[in-house]
Amino acid sequence: MTTTIAVAGKGGTGKTTLAGLLIRRLAEAQAGPILAIDADPASNLNTVLDLPLEKTVGDVREETSEKARANLLEAGIAKRDLLDYEINSSVVEGVDVDLLAMGRPEGPGCYCAANNMLRAIIDAIADSYPWVVIDNEAGLEHLSRRTTRDVDVLFIVSDATVRGITTAGRIAALLGELETKVGRHYLIVNRAGGGLTPELERAIAEHGLELLVVLPDDPLVTEYAEEAIRRAGLTPKRSSIRGGTDGARLTFMGVPTPNLFDGSMNFHGKKEWVPLEWMDKAVETVLHLLGVWVDRSR
Ligand SMILES: Nc1ncnc2c1ncn2[C@@H]1O[C@H](COP(=O)(O)OP(=O)(O)OP(=O)(O)O)[C@@H](O)[C@H]1O
Ligand SMILES: [Mg+2]
Repeated sequence: MTTTIAVAGKGGTGKTTLAGLLIRRLAEAQAGPILAIDADPASNLNTVLDLPLEKTVGDVREETSEKARANLLEAGIAKRDLLDYEINSSVVEGVDVDLLAMGRPEGPGCYCAANNMLRAIIDAIADSYPWVVIDNEAGLEHLSRRTTRDVDVLFIVSDATVRGITTAGRIAALLGELETKVGRHYLIVNRAGGGLTPELERAIAEHGLELLVVLPDDPLVTEYAEEAIRRAGLTPKRSSIRGGTDGARLTFMGVPTPNLFDGSMNFHGKKEWVPLEWMDKAVETVLHLLGVWVDRSR
């Protein structure tokens, strides 16, 4: 019997960190082998779990279709067998947890035979584990396209804002329309400094969400970071950010780690850019940050 747990929610709310913490808790409880599925194309769950990542399911799909196009598939080896072998070899083995990263998704509208085979192979692998934990990219519309697994428990993560709760509500409302069946779903409010405000409680009730737990924000590191930003002559502004890879990894190891600005704009877009003056300020901030930690540790 496999129990499948998935984590979803708005970008930057702590999904990967929570998936990592959940896996760590299951491992500590010696609950049995865990398969971690990284369903975010940005593939960063491996950094939280401290596992190397060489090949994703997306890579295997591309390599195999290239071979097929070039007629390089060896005679006598069925495509399904080759995919099966390649996907099984791409599972990274850890001590209590193994990892399978989905990588880039197939193109829009592509439900070709290879993808159906891939889903069946992934499901067969997952069936041999008592626990499967899936870390998703922001939003939920991708869930059904990545595996056919039904999810027993879905944790919807939100920050402590009405917008975050509204997104969580939308995700919960979408559940009925997914091909993937979701058993129970719970809301986790992460980084709620002073607990829930009446406004947030109202929003949770309005969306009919079942609140599992409110996790506090760890204030110390952000306080120090803000002090450093002020010392650089700037006014700190807080917001969530996507892809907190290094931060998520360090947080998992027990050191809550916020991301600092580096001055760049339009991340990952064609027109990503950074002015020199802002980069200078980022460097200045980091140097001040060292000073703040030294001063406050005396
Ligand atoms: N309770 C908390 N207190 C302080 N920092 C936190 C807390 N939870 C998460 N963080 C930090 O927030 C950042 C974003 O977290 P994470 O990468 O887990 O979010 P995510 O939802 O997976 O993001 P993405 O949408 O990019 O996948 C990380 O730097 C993480 O360390
Ligand atoms: Mg993530």
